[in-house]
Amino acid sequence: MEYIELGSSGVRASRITFGSWAAGGWMWGGTEQNDAVGAIRASFELGVTSIDTAPIYGQGLSEEIVGEAIKTLPRDQVQILTKFGMRWDEQKGDFGFKSKNNQGQDIDVYKYAAPQSIIRECEDSLRRLGTDYIDLYQIHWPDKTTPIQDTMEAVQRLIEQGKVRAAGVSNYSVEQMREAEQVVNLASNQVPYSMVRRDIEQDVVPYCLEHNKAILAYSPMQLGLLTGKIKPGQHFEASDLRATHPLFKPEFVTHVNAFLDKIRPMAESKDATLGQLVLRWTLAQPGISVALVGARNAEQAVQNARAIHVQLSPQEVDFISQQLAQL
Ligand SMILES: NC(=O)c1ccc[n+]([C@@H]2O[C@H](COP(=O)([O-])OP(=O)(O)OC[C@H]3O[C@@H](n4cnc5c(N)ncnc54)[C@H](OP(=O)(O)O)[C@@H]3O)[C@@H](O)[C@H]2O)c1
Repeated sequence: MEYIELGSSGVRASRITFGSWAAGGWMWGGTEQNDAVGAIRASFELGVTSIDTAPIYGQGLSEEIVGEAIKTLPRDQVQILTKFGMRWDEQKGDFGFKSKNNQGQDIDVYKYAAPQSIIRECEDSLRRLGTDYIDLYQIHWPDKTTPIQDTMEAVQRLIEQGKVRAAGVSNYSVEQMREAEQVVNLASNQVPYSMVRRDIEQDVVPYCLEHNKAILAYSPMQLGLLTGKIKPGQHFEASDLRATHPLFKPEFVTHVNAFLDKIRPMAESKDATLGQLVLRWTLAQPGISVALVGARNAEQAVQNARAIHVQLSPQEVDFISQQLAQL
């Protein structure tokens, strides 16, 4: 595995980090098909020491699963990256969207990052995770109703209390990062980035490169689309976000699969899967520190972790980028 320091925080993360959103089932069609504990432990065996989670993933369930998985692992060799600021249990702040929990009940999701809320959320996360500190604590989405300064002061207090090692943000713009940095030293920004979603290259990437901030690229396989296994018109459960996702429309899936067919021979020549090639390309892009990859079971997790062993020359990276430009 390769490891990288998140900004200047002293927290070292594995460049392939386990993303445990799907593990919590919510918005991913439930948990029936999941073996999340097995997936996390199998990943750790291959050097994936960092795990990303959030309270909103399964409304606490994902954090509990992570807590269960790390029980038998040495705590100082695991990095827990979790989040705050998305509440389903309090109707305060900036209304986000309506959803259903894993039991099919309606929930309202709010973006809320007021100081008292963060302090409470941190205690809840520590309990669910079964630990006394969080390695990276990230605001999940900006909350328009709370000044960024107030939010970051609360995070700074948690750092001083030893409950949090480093502060991170997620889905923040450059302007919002600048504002946060007036109060706290940010380690990272967690943002969407994949071969078919590259808008951060315009602003977040140059800013992070210049200011030594890590970028944690989320959904690098675009929710599984870039593994090549998705067929045009494929059926997803109504509770799976891919059922209505614009990038899963049949025409786009057809285009993506045509692109993947062009790079398939390269994957085969390296004895790699398409997903592994995609992850390696992602990690080769400027400023991308970590790929946050979701997996439902140990088999997927092991395959994703092994992507780190795929070697790509600069010419091969360019070849893939050229094919991508024609998508
Ligand atoms: N901060 C944020 O707002 C935010 C937003 C999104 C994600 N994230 C983080 O980023 C992580 C990763 O993103 P993601 O889970 O959305 O998307 P992803 O990593 O692009 O895709 C994960 C999904 O792809 C499929 N998959 C994974 N490995 C596979 C393999 N080897 N072979 C075939 N299929 C495979 C699995 O679903 P199926 O088996 O069902 O196909 C899996 O759930 C999340 O878990 C979360 O930690 C953060």
